Amino acid sequence: VSEKPFAAAAAQNQQAILSVLGAELSAGDHVLELGSGTGQHVCFFAQHLPEVFWQPTELPSRLDGIRMWLADFDGDNVLPPLSLDVRDEVWPTLQAQVIYSANTFHIVSWQAIESVFAGCSSSLTGSGKLCVYGPFKIDGRFTTQSNAQFDQMLRAQDPLSGVRDSAELNALALSHGFRPARMIPMPANNFVAIWQLA
Ligand SMILES: C[S@@+](CC[C@H](N)C(=O)[O-])C[C@H]1O[C@@H](n2cnc3c(N)ncnc32)[C@H](O)[C@@H]1O
Repeated sequence: VSEKPFAAAAAQNQQAILSVLGAELSAGDHVLELGSGTGQHVCFFAQHLPEVFWQPTELPSRLDGIRMWLADFDGDNVLPPLSLDVRDEVWPTLQAQVIYSANTFHIVSWQAIESVFAGCSSSLTGSGKLCVYGPFKIDGRFTTQSNAQFDQMLRAQDPLSGVRDSAELNALALSHGFRPARMIPMPANNFVAIWQLA
């Protein structure tokens, strides 16, 4: 990466996501982020929630971009980014109160999502939470026509991707010791799904 990366979508949704995450977090909490993308989100959240510690992770090819965002970040509550493919069997040993990810569940395969829930079981503390932002089907139904079209477009590009269903995710979550998700409606027909360990 030679230029600092920028994602317009992340700039648009960060304020709304911050208001949800802020209500879920307490001073001293550690957050493990999956698929951090450019690193914009983690810098924005860390700036606004300075008493929370943030651990960005990404595929190796995106780590340099995150490092560029961190080089410009004026704070000491973001840890250097770690390489993590969510399909990895071994996850960082950091014990987090919250694991957070935005706009990844419709990109990665269902098998990778299974790996996320398995990884969360090992990396979350006792009553930890997994907070996932993005588009979801609710109980098997698209909430809007535009999300149905988005799903078709995703699957045309990669048959293993697609908008995930809350009921199917809840069944998976339950098998890893989580309660069914609270689905918090967000702008632009998205949700934050919050699964908490029972
Ligand atoms: C649509 S982007 C979202 C990035 C960022 N979370 C945001 O909201 O701006 C999806 C991200 O998932 C990452 N990703 C894809 N497959 C992954 C995997 N197997 N493990 C970890 N990250 C993955 C990609 O590198 C990409 O940055």
